[in-house]
Amino acid sequence: MAASKTSERKKEHIQLCLTDKVAFKKSNGFDEYDFEHFAITEVDFSKIDLTTRFLKKDISFPFLISCMTGGTSEAERINEKLAIAAKELNIPIGVGSQRQALEDNKHYATYKVVRENAGSVHVLGNIGAAQVATSKTIVDDFKLMIDLVEADAMVVHINPLQELLQPEGEPNFDGLLKNLEKVIAKTSIPVICKEVGSGISKKAAKHLLEIGVYGIDVAGAGGTSWAAVELQRNKKTDAYFSEWGLPTSYCVKTVAELKSKYNFKLIASGGINDGVDAAKALALGADITASARILLQEVMKSDVEGVISLIHSWFETVKKIMYLTGCSSIKQLTKNGLKRKEELV
Ligand SMILES: Cc1cc2nc3c(=O)[nH]c(=O)nc-3n(C[C@H](O)[C@H](O)[C@H](O)COP(=O)(O)O)c2cc1C
Repeated sequence: MAASKTSERKKEHIQLCLTDKVAFKKSNGFDEYDFEHFAITEVDFSKIDLTTRFLKKDISFPFLISCMTGGTSEAERINEKLAIAAKELNIPIGVGSQRQALEDNKHYATYKVVRENAGSVHVLGNIGAAQVATSKTIVDDFKLMIDLVEADAMVVHINPLQELLQPEGEPNFDGLLKNLEKVIAKTSIPVICKEVGSGISKKAAKHLLEIGVYGIDVAGAGGTSWAAVELQRNKKTDAYFSEWGLPTSYCVKTVAELKSKYNFKLIASGGINDGVDAAKALALGADITASARILLQEVMKSDVEGVISLIHSWFETVKKIMYLTGCSSIKQLTKNGLKRKEELV
């Protein structure tokens, strides 16, 4: 049987994301900041503990493997390996959009493989805003997607730019907030909203928090440009829209201001490509950090072991920064140490 359009698209996404042609030229913004060294640190480096509470469980690092793939045969091995890494690291893992699973059951295994290999770590289901906005059966759709991966939370990706540039895209989210509110009320597990690289502003986050989302993953600019991915799929270029989006650092800093009013988890993603980026995101107010494309590249290059050692090395860097800034907990890191570079001259 020929692959469905959705399945074909998922395959092309994987292939393009293995190249660096889809990276933003602009920065995630974290290079505007640096840490203030604290010479009289009394933190015991060996006692720094990064255990973080997320979805009512302790996870070993403030990090999750972002939603990436599923719905195409290439995804099965990738998801299996990423799930094994997530289990070993005791961190959550997201599956890619489950839209394909709403079309037919041909690729169910590519999603199920995540739960089968992730043990008891959190698995996050995933669906796009266009489906949430337009489906007349959204509550039942959520149930199917949750059951398929025994999801601990559902992630809704809100991707207007990607829909706009995809020839088969649906750039019409009319009804999104209303349907999202309905599904949040009727679904047994928390709902997290994310972008895919253009960032969630404070204003957008406020609307989402008002209807009861559990978490906001800003997925800002500076990492993978999904405009670039879609344009390249169609052999087009557009210098302006390829670079469209709010830098991740800006989103984290401004959305974090909403914590005084709303109780939610703030996830920083979009170009988090090393431990320094992760530490800066946590210092600007993120509860958790997340990455996508760099982990896809790593798993293809160096298998499960590569992903595990990459994440370990990032969080060794985070610990070193905490030690040097006199912070024994992530909470302290959030309050201390990060400065705009111009303040440090
Ligand atoms: C191959 C690939 C497929 C992706 N598919 C999805 C998806 O189905 N759903 C989703 O919410 N995000 C998807 N994303 C977006 C990521 O979750 C993330 O928001 C974005 O790539 C920015 O993070 P990065 O700069 O670390 O790659 C995908 C990313 C990659 C690399």
